[in-house]
Parts: sequence; structure tokens; C-alpha cells
Amino acid sequence: MKVAVYPGSFDPITNGHLDIIRRAAKVYDKVVIGVLDNINKTPLFTSEERKELIDRVTSDIDNVECDVFSGLLVDFLKQKKATVIVKGLRTVADFEYEFQMALLNKALNPEFETMFMMTNSGFSYISSSMVKEVAKYNGCLEGLVPEGIIPDIKNKYIK
Ligand code: COA
Repeated sequence: MKVAVYPGSFDPITNGHLDIIRRAAKVYDKVVIGVLDNINKTPLFTSEERKELIDRVTSDIDNVECDVFSGLLVDFLKQKKATVIVKGLRTVADFEYEFQMALLNKALNPEFETMFMMTNSGFSYISSSMVKEVAKYNGCLEGLVPEGIIPDIKNKYIK
């Protein structure tokens, strides 16, 4: 069974992320979404909230599961019996950083492969920070994130 991990902060999950998840689920037997609990960042959503949002919008995809992790990504792969890291590439600007991470992960565990998927052109301009910026100023989130989580994001900005 070929298991892949799709790691990230997902603060919050966007339509760009979901596009990668749906496509990866067609390529691999199982896709584990790894939500990084990063102590160096102050996220809008806690890692458990981010997982809950992801579970909700991926509930229709049978071979996808989500879990929170901290520490090294390669250790999370081992724990999940995965051998592939899936990452989305939006623009050339993503490339240099992704290339560095892929090489580092290869150095940490040569058994694992990083596979890149080109983000659908319709989503290439979306990032979680941009979503938060739009939400902060009460802009329209339609098309940027899955519809079902728009109220959750808006609620975070209600004083
Ligand atoms: N669609 C939309 N947005 C996307 C996207 C896509 N397909 N792919 C990436 N993004 C955006 C994210 O929304 C995020 O936007 P933001 O900066 O505005 O919040 C941005 O790209 C960065 O993504 P992020 O999820 O923060 O992940 P990352 O690429 O920086 O890497 C990990 C996160 C978890 C993969 C990495 O930090 C990691 O592996 N950490 C564990 C520690 C470790 O093992 N370190 C050594 C290896 S690097």
C-alpha cells in the first residue's frame, strides 16, 4: 500500500490545498494530511481546530485522513508508514524553498521521496495568509476556501 503525507500549516485549509489533496488521493492508496503544530508560529486556528476543519471538508474522500504532528516530518512519515511527501507548487517562487526542503528531507531519510504537484492555475494566487488578510477586512472568501469553513474563519475576526 502506497501511503503519502501531505504536510503543512493549513491555517486555514484553502481551495488550493484541497485541490492537491483530491488529486493526490487519486494517485496514492492513502493520503495522510499532516498538520504541523509549530511552536514558533502563532496561528489563527489551534492545530486541533485546523484538523477539525480539514476533517470536515475531506469527509467525502475515503482514502484521506488527517493528524496533527510536531517535530520532524520524516518521523511523522515513519509513524504513518508513509514513503512519499506530497507538496504543491504554485509558482517558481515556491520552487527554491521547496527544493531545499526536499533535499533536507532526503538527507534525513533517503528512503522517502518528495513528489510535487503543480497547483491548478485557478488557485495559484491563494495562500492562507492572503485568506486571513481578506477575512480581517471582511472581504469575500468565496472561491478561496471551502464554503463550509467560511463561518469558522469569519467568527475568528468578530470582536
Ligand atoms: N494552495 C494554496 N496555498 C498553498 C499551497 C497550495 N497548493 N501550497 C502551499 N500553500 C501556502 C500555504 O497556505 C502557506 O501560506 P502562508 O505562508 O500564507 O500561510 C504557505 O504556502 C506555506 O505553507 P506551509 O503550510 O506553512 O508549509 P511549508 O511549505 O512552509 O512547510 C512543513 C511546512 C510542515 C512541510 C515543514 O515546515 C516541515 O516539514 N516541518 C516539520 C519540521 C521538519 O521536518 N523540518 C525539516 C524539513 S523542512
